[in-house]
Amino acid sequence: MITKSNYSTLITAIIISAIIISGAIVFFALKMDNREVSDAKIESSLNRIMENRQQDKMRQHHLDMNKEVRSTKQRLQAVNQVDKEIDHIFGNSDAEFTLIEYGSFGCVHCADMEQNIRLLVAESKENLNWVYRHLPVAFRNSREALLEAEASECVSVLKGESGFWKFADVLNKNGHQSAFSQQQLRSFAKETGVNESKFEKCLSKGQQKERINRDTQSIASLDIGGLPVVVLKQNKTGKTYPLIEGISTSYFKFEIDQIIRNERTPILEQITSGSKLFATNCAGCHGDNADGKLNKAPALNGTAHAWHHSNFGLFQTIKEGSTAKDSPMKGWKDKLTDDEIESIIRYFQSLWNPEMMR
Ligand code: HEC
Repeated sequence: MITKSNYSTLITAIIISAIIISGAIVFFALKMDNREVSDAKIESSLNRIMENRQQDKMRQHHLDMNKEVRSTKQRLQAVNQVDKEIDHIFGNSDAEFTLIEYGSFGCVHCADMEQNIRLLVAESKENLNWVYRHLPVAFRNSREALLEAEASECVSVLKGESGFWKFADVLNKNGHQSAFSQQQLRSFAKETGVNESKFEKCLSKGQQKERINRDTQSIASLDIGGLPVVVLKQNKTGKTYPLIEGISTSYFKFEIDQIIRNERTPILEQITSGSKLFATNCAGCHGDNADGKLNKAPALNGTAHAWHHSNFGLFQTIKEGSTAKDSPMKGWKDKLTDDEIESIIRYFQSLWNPEMMR
């Protein structure tokens, strides 16, 4: 039976439960709302984590690549000096610099590069020559490449250095898509004026195998992949500069200029003058400390990705301007000399972590 006091208790209970229920609804509603807010937050945090991870991965990839480049350059330091008695030298044999190429007849990149080298040597006013060493391995069919190398050495024995270089040129000009037959090699050799039967005897008896082996062995232990392998030597000092970032004449010129520049001006001086030039010409966009806060110009101090580029790549961007469409990054070749551009690179590279260097 419901008494009055029972009744009021019941009403109170109903009111209390109503409050509890509505409170719960509000609480859950708020919670739901919160959950949605935090879902969005979680999603954006996750995205950020993924982005960071992706960036970390890229960063690691570039660090690994730079390490590999440094290690290859280190190993290539061991390439032998020019031996005037044995090496094939194109150009002035007393030149200050030598481009030593390990190549194979039939390697298209080698042939393209060799055309560039011939031009460079001609333009160098006797300061640069070119040494060709045989590396007829791991390429097309190494047996065929070996036969071509042997043919060139037979021509060399019978017709001297001029014969060798002429034969090399004839091979390049006749294309590289397929290997040359012994018959073709014979007819190319004839173009250099060799005695045919002597050439034939030399080739069929494999008389020049050892000579070729000498070249190949001189690099075999360095564990270098790919062709051509090129180093620049300064002959009087024996200093060796591996050229592994390209085969263009502008790249070769860049490297030679850099050696001369570094000999003339100590690095510290280059950094100091580069820092001043940077403040005048670049800081307006790239930030006072190359930290890139203004005008969307990226940081060059090692916190963005400028350090992913090779020195030559940086040099080209600054000299010729960005290749990106409508970029405010114009070329500086009319305002800064090559030396000045290089010293600016030295300056912002001095802000990098050493492992970012190639
Ligand atoms: C008017 C603004 C401006 C000035 C001045 C300027 N830059 Fe840039 N630079 C940019 C912008 C923007 C980019 C971004 C890349 C693009 O647009 O392709 C850039 C890109 C670069 C890059 C490539 C960076 C990368 O991570 O790939 C280098 C290197 C560079 N600038 C060096 C210089 C140097 C050195 C100077 C001074 C001699 C200079 N810049 C002056 C705006 C400028």
